[in-house]
Amino acid sequence: MARRQLRDQRAIVTGASSGIGRELTRQLLAAGAKVVATARREDRLQELAAEVAAPQQLVIVPGDICDGALRTALVSAADEHFGGLDLLINNAGIGALGPFADGSPERLRQVMEVNFFAPVELIRAALPALRRGRSPAICNISSILAHRAVPAKSEYCASKFAIHGFSDALRSELASEGIDVILVSPSTTESEFSSAVIEKSGRQPAKGKGAMTSADVAKSAIKAVQSGKHEVILSLGGKGLVWLDRLAPTWADWLVTRFGFDGSAGRQSKKS
Ligand SMILES: NC(=O)c1ccc[n+]([C@@H]2O[C@H](COP(=O)([O-])OP(=O)(O)OC[C@H]3O[C@@H](n4cnc5c(N)ncnc54)[C@H](OP(=O)(O)O)[C@@H]3O)[C@@H](O)[C@H]2O)c1
Repeated sequence: MARRQLRDQRAIVTGASSGIGRELTRQLLAAGAKVVATARREDRLQELAAEVAAPQQLVIVPGDICDGALRTALVSAADEHFGGLDLLINNAGIGALGPFADGSPERLRQVMEVNFFAPVELIRAALPALRRGRSPAICNISSILAHRAVPAKSEYCASKFAIHGFSDALRSELASEGIDVILVSPSTTESEFSSAVIEKSGRQPAKGKGAMTSADVAKSAIKAVQSGKHEVILSLGGKGLVWLDRLAPTWADWLVTRFGFDGSAGRQSKKS
């Protein structure tokens, strides 16, 4: 039996305007949860609100997740509209493509701001409300690249390793309070992610075809929230890479240096 019922759970979902976050919002609402959804593109959030079956269960709060005032407003909205907060899903994220040497300090800062500092600070803002919540949980949408880093995505990998390490530490800190900290690590997923990368520099790996849909990833993440499973790696290839890296790190190094993550480094595109 599920450890956590979703009906009437009060949730915040970040990055709800597209891809995985949009699907998370739809599926949570369909399961009877109440959702505060956020992202910068308000028109996309309005479209989502117009589509869902239970719009009265959805509150949209548009803004940049790097803005501390927005993060406070999200927690306040859950309190004001739903009377509290039980589930925080940190999903908003960005990528950058290209060798580290070709990137700028600003690229590194921006990736870390969105993928690490913003979700961690949202957790800080949400913790008092989560402590008062029913069966509370924090779910961080990470990546397989939080377990094994690859070339041309150094800043992104670093940000996802950081949220992985943070999640492990926080899980132990909050265990005695009954707050689950769940880390979900998808592999390449069909979404707007690759077209939204903030910078593409130098030689880049050829585009890999998404192995999973955003709906699949959302479904697995929600299942992990329901069961309270602490860590999920979603694809077979991802699991294989993680085990190879743990058991034979030198081979894993050779593999990603030679082929990149999606087996495409030998087919690199021209310098942009
Ligand atoms: N797609 C993949 O292959 C893949 C694989 C592994 C992990 N992931 C992870 O999955 C998560 C969701 O990505 P996705 O694939 O669904 O990509 P996506 O379709 O590009 O969605 C990213 C979401 O993040 C939001 N976002 C980005 N920067 C933001 C900011 N500064 N403030 C507020 N919201 C911001 C975007 O909304 P706005 O632009 O409207 O602000 C959008 O809703 C990310 O954390 C990503 O790292 C993706």
